[in-house]
Amino acid sequence: MNILGIETSCDDTAAAVIRDGSVVLSNVVSSQTYMHERYGGIIPEICSREHLTTMVPVVNEALGLAELKPSEIDGIAVTHGPGLAGSLLVGVNAAKGFAMAWDKPLIGINHLEGHIYSAWLEGLFEKSGTEFPLVCLIASGGHTELVLMKGHLDYELLAKTRDDAAGEAFDKVARVLRLGFPGGPEIQKEAEKTDHHIDPFPRPVITGSLDFSFSGLKTAVVRRAEDDGFYPIQDDNSPSESVVRNYALAFQNAIVDCLVSRTLKAVDMYDGKGILIGGGVAANTELRKTLSRESRVPVVAPRPGLCTDNGAMIGAAAYYRFKECGSTEWDMDAIPGLSLAD
Ligand code: KG4
Ligand code: ZN
Repeated sequence: MNILGIETSCDDTAAAVIRDGSVVLSNVVSSQTYMHERYGGIIPEICSREHLTTMVPVVNEALGLAELKPSEIDGIAVTHGPGLAGSLLVGVNAAKGFAMAWDKPLIGINHLEGHIYSAWLEGLFEKSGTEFPLVCLIASGGHTELVLMKGHLDYELLAKTRDDAAGEAFDKVARVLRLGFPGGPEIQKEAEKTDHHIDPFPRPVITGSLDFSFSGLKTAVVRRAEDDGFYPIQDDNSPSESVVRNYALAFQNAIVDCLVSRTLKAVDMYDGKGILIGGGVAANTELRKTLSRESRVPVVAPRPGLCTDNGAMIGAAAYYRFKECGSTEWDMDAIPGLSLAD
């Protein structure tokens, strides 16, 4: 079964063709980073405008690279939430248009379910030798959740962030350090340049819960930057290269510690047979290394290019959803606050 997966929940316009939930026939991501870089963050109005102009060329490229005609596509899958309302609407309406014009089933997918199913691409999950239940850590720019996956499409929410998402914290701290957007890869790059350990930043703990909280960590970075004289940002108070590297390493260590400790705790509490990670922050090398080193169960980590937003993960999730539930109704809407599990 060949599924065209469309993803426009945030700032990337993405389309991919996936065969049988695993084989990546094509995977095209058109990034708007250069548009948002100068503002240091995502501007929703720019996102939806760019999706409008890029959507059709990206879908055409995905079909072309897969060497398939529309008649050889068996279903159109699209992210219908969570995400930015305007961005989601462009994808949902484009998918409805393609599905109607080509007379194909429409399959609505939750973005977070997509991140989870990136682990089924390229046969990764089968190769891992692990089994359900899995503890899934989904860490992105908008979400940080621990989900117990008991079987295909069967989820229980174990923890979420009480304030900022992990990716959001990376992006905000990168701005304080005068690094580019998105901040995660920039902080990782700087952290890799040093092994000098400054005073650690705090690891916020919420007693009696697996929930995350990152706003205190972010505030701790800002306070220390103020003490060190490079925040608030002015024309002539940039931190030195070594200060940036040392902050980046200390911040990354703190955030990785928070993510890893709760994930391992969830494995113990819920008898997880494996750990699955997904979302942009799961591309982080230090997080991947630390989890693999400290976990007693296998860690399934899609390659970094499949952790950040893409259409392939939507095509993979749609294969399992379509098999189980069939197509989605035509009145499917974009739902910015859609949740995966309660
Ligand atoms: O899943 P994603 O591509 O989009 C959302 O659904 O939000 O995640 C984007 C987030 C950004 O905050 C970005 O800074 C972060 O993922 N990110 C990383 C890395 N690559 C992307 N964070 C840490 N280390 C990375 N290597
Ligand atoms: Zn995402």
